[in-house]
Amino acid sequence: MKIVICGKGGSGKSTISSLLAKNFVKNGFSVLVVDTDESNFGLHRQLGVDLPPDFMGYYGGKQTVVEKIFQAAPNYDSVSFFDKEWGFADIPPAYLSGNDGVKLVAIGKIHEAGEGCACAMGMMAKQFLGNLKVTPGEVVITDTEAGIEHFGRGIEENADAVLMVIDPSYESLKLAEKVAELSTSIDKPVFFVLNKVDGSSEDFMRDALGGRHAIAAVIPVDPSLALAGLRGDEVEADSADIERLSLFLRDKLAR
Ligand SMILES: Nc1ncnc2c1ncn2[C@@H]1O[C@H](COP(=O)(O)OP(=O)(O)O)[C@@H](O)[C@H]1O
Ligand SMILES: [Mg+2]
Repeated sequence: MKIVICGKGGSGKSTISSLLAKNFVKNGFSVLVVDTDESNFGLHRQLGVDLPPDFMGYYGGKQTVVEKIFQAAPNYDSVSFFDKEWGFADIPPAYLSGNDGVKLVAIGKIHEAGEGCACAMGMMAKQFLGNLKVTPGEVVITDTEAGIEHFGRGIEENADAVLMVIDPSYESLKLAEKVAELSTSIDKPVFFVLNKVDGSSEDFMRDALGGRHAIAAVIPVDPSLALAGLRGDEVEADSADIERLSLFLRDKLAR
């Protein structure tokens, strides 16, 4: 199964991606986390693995990728980086980091001031996900950048479901409505995760969301997660809430 995790900045996308990835590993799945956030340099630490080199390096680096895209103008859709379907085993090991559990691939980061936008990363991420074939024991968790630009880039089109992380804020609730609308427009199921909640914020959020889409999990505000986030520590895998989330996804998306 392929899951895309989205939400506003700081809502807990990378934390939930990491916890979920570790849970799937614990349950015997092969797990690949795809980091499509060009601005995040902390996900690997939450997973407890090294930062892999930018996957775009496999195609000569960002500049080369950008030139290839520009050469195709205005037929951007004709640009194709993959000439055959890949399984997990086809991902070049030099661009993977991991341990005996989770594997991580990072599409590309912004490294220098003035280097240009992240459109090339978006195109590569979309094609990487679309080209990747998963078997029933494999899970791909894609951690995205804040907001909804990745919908514009078409990344969700190559996923089985969208998991929207919502923290207790007006902005997150509004974004959830937009994400639900965008997911529905491309026929992708969308599930909500209420994160960092306590009793009263959970009630308010449930009311505001109005039961229109499934709430896959409710994750309480957890001081140990906050501290891990501050220190850049690996997150701990064991949590009944994450186990429920993982079971929910397996139930909905088993294939
Ligand atoms: N349930 C939670 N309880 C407490 N802190 C959390 C929780 N989920 C995430 N955090 C913290 O919130 C911050 C932002 O989380 P992160 O996963 O990096 O968000 P995003 O990827 O959406 O930007 C981090 O410091 C993280 O540790
Ligand atoms: Mg993040």
